[in-house]
Amino acid sequence: MRSLLLILGLVWTLPAADEKCAVCHTKQVRGYYGHAGKPGSAMASALYTAGEAEILHKNPKLDYTLGRFTYSIDRKGGESVYTVSDGKDKFSLALRYAFGHGAAGQTYLYQLEGRWFESRLSYYKETGRLDLTMGVPPGEPPNLKEAAGREMTPKDVAACFACHTTDSLSKGLVDFSELRAGIGCTNCHMQSAGHLKSMAPMKSLKTLTAEEQSEACGRCHRTWADIAANGPRGINNVRFQPYRLANSKCYDSEDRRIGCASCHDVHEPLEKNLAAYDDKCAACHAAGSKVAAKLCPKGKTDCASCHMPRFEMPGSHHQFTDHMIRIVRKNETYPN
Ligand code: HEC
Ligand code: HEC
Ligand code: HEC
Ligand code: HEC
Ligand code: HEC
Ligand code: HEC
Ligand code: HEC
Repeated sequence: MRSLLLILGLVWTLPAADEKCAVCHTKQVRGYYGHAGKPGSAMASALYTAGEAEILHKNPKLDYTLGRFTYSIDRKGGESVYTVSDGKDKFSLALRYAFGHGAAGQTYLYQLEGRWFESRLSYYKETGRLDLTMGVPPGEPPNLKEAAGREMTPKDVAACFACHTTDSLSKGLVDFSELRAGIGCTNCHMQSAGHLKSMAPMKSLKTLTAEEQSEACGRCHRTWADIAANGPRGINNVRFQPYRLANSKCYDSEDRRIGCASCHDVHEPLEKNLAAYDDKCAACHAAGSKVAAKLCPKGKTDCASCHMPRFEMPGSHHQFTDHMIRIVRKNETYPN
């Protein structure tokens, strides 16, 4: 297997299960994991061990001050050591996991006396430095332990790993011996055992309706129903694309042309050139079209730049693309 993969010239960091797919589905594997210097999808690297996190390699010393507390993350002999001091006492240990490729930012998990904690600070790409993890209340924490991070329940821990890794849960808890960092092929293409063993056909995802795609992706990106029932309301829901998209006049649950995979090839990195999305709009918005024949009086290219505005979620230091496609009116309030 190894020599065959070498002939194909693939990258070597593939999870074992996905190496098997690579033999036949070379195009998807190369696109997804990156190839020949080209980056892959951020989903493939949604989690790193702290030792492997590129951001921590590139930033061997990060620091931050919060009232009487001083923080640092220092690279020492292959580890990233997290130190918090209140001036008298000091808390210091090696970080375990880095969550997020870093499109917006990266958050760290560490373990203390068998319990898991989420770091109070995260790294943000836009600013290139540490700041409060999203959702952490501002202000000075009461003591050193809380200053360092938030204790997580086993359920919290399992939820984080379920969305950022592949097949790592056993009986609802994380099995760290089986941990496969990042989102692998089989996260979306389930039940591949028979396909690998005896070429049993795989379920094709190419025929899913828009709604079925939103449900499949919404397992992690959150579904319309999740957000409608549990919030958040307002600007904080801009990152939940299945919800935003379904609230758009463009959305038709049966029409594949408005499904996630019509605009995104998940086997490639996110397309940043907005003009590349124009033909996705034109699939419905064209002269003579049955669903939307009225043409735009204002623009002919880069449709998404006006109709999918970007918003910065408070504390995220990052602009997210609003998937509620619409005419944006001057001084509008954010439509829920
Ligand atoms: C020995 C070669 C081989 C291996 C290994 C393999 N596949 Fe396939 N796969 C095929 C062939 C052949 C088809 C049917 C032709 C096609 O549709 O591309 C197929 C079809 C599929 C399809 C359905 C395509 C569609 O939409 O109709 C998916 C999804 C898929 N494979 C995923 C995987 C994943 C994930 C892995 C690894 C866990 C994998 N395959 C491993 C050969 C392979
Ligand atoms: C198992 C959970 C999971 C599923 C299922 C999932 N995603 Fe993701 N997705 C993520 C996570 C986590 C990230 C953030 C990765 C990061 O930046 O660290 C992400 C990021 C992305 C990105 C940004 C990629 C980039 O290169 O910046 C796109 C686009 C995306 N997902 C689309 C989809 C679509 C479309 C589907 C459904 C076909 C889907 N995702 C299904 C978890 C998932
Ligand atoms: C329900 C699934 C889900 C859970 C649970 C979840 N995430 Fe995510 N996470 C995602 C998705 C999807 C994205 C990408 C889209 C986005 O940024 O909103 C993401 C993005 C991120 C990012 C930004 C990545 C980047 O490249 O900028 C960080 C950091 C992150 N998650 C950390 C965590 C941590 C830590 C936990 C647990 C406390 C957690 N996530 C729990 C699905 C999840
Ligand atoms: C985030 C979810 C997700 C991940 C991860 C993912 N896929 Fe897919 N895959 C899809 C979706 C959705 C489609 C259908 C795309 C469409 O509608 O055109 C698809 C289609 C395919 C097809 C059929 C393509 C065709 O045009 O015939 C193959 C083969 C495939 N994927 C293999 C893989 C392999 C191998 C990996 C791992 C490198 C992988 N996928 C990772 C969601 C995913
Ligand atoms: C009509 C086209 C279209 C559809 C449908 C669509 N997207 Fe997007 N998406 C975009 C555009 C345009 C961007 C911005 C790309 C960039 O960064 O320049 C984007 C960005 C993203 C990002 C990166 C984070 C951000 O907010 O910028 C994620 C994740 C994502 N989409 C997920 C999804 C999911 C999940 C679905 C299905 C519910 C979906 N998209 C449906 C056009 C679309
Ligand atoms: C599945 C087909 C489909 C796709 C794909 C699609 N739309 Fe639409 N869109 C519609 C329909 C249907 C309407 C409502 C009927 C009408 O006004 O003609 C609409 C309405 C709109 C409106 C008017 C909304 C309002 O607030 O009144 C805008 C603007 C728009 N679309 C822009 C876009 C852009 C930009 C894209 C690509 C990023 C896109 N659409 C993709 C079908 C689609
Ligand atoms: C420079 C910003 C801009 C760009 C680029 C742009 N639009 Fe628009 N679009 C607008 C504005 C503003 C309106 C509202 C016009 C009005 O009501 O006076 C509009 C209206 C529309 C409508 C509603 C038309 C109607 O009469 O109901 C549709 C559909 C639409 N745009 C689609 C698109 C598509 C598709 C593209 C890309 C080919 C695009 N737009 C590019 C700003 C833009």
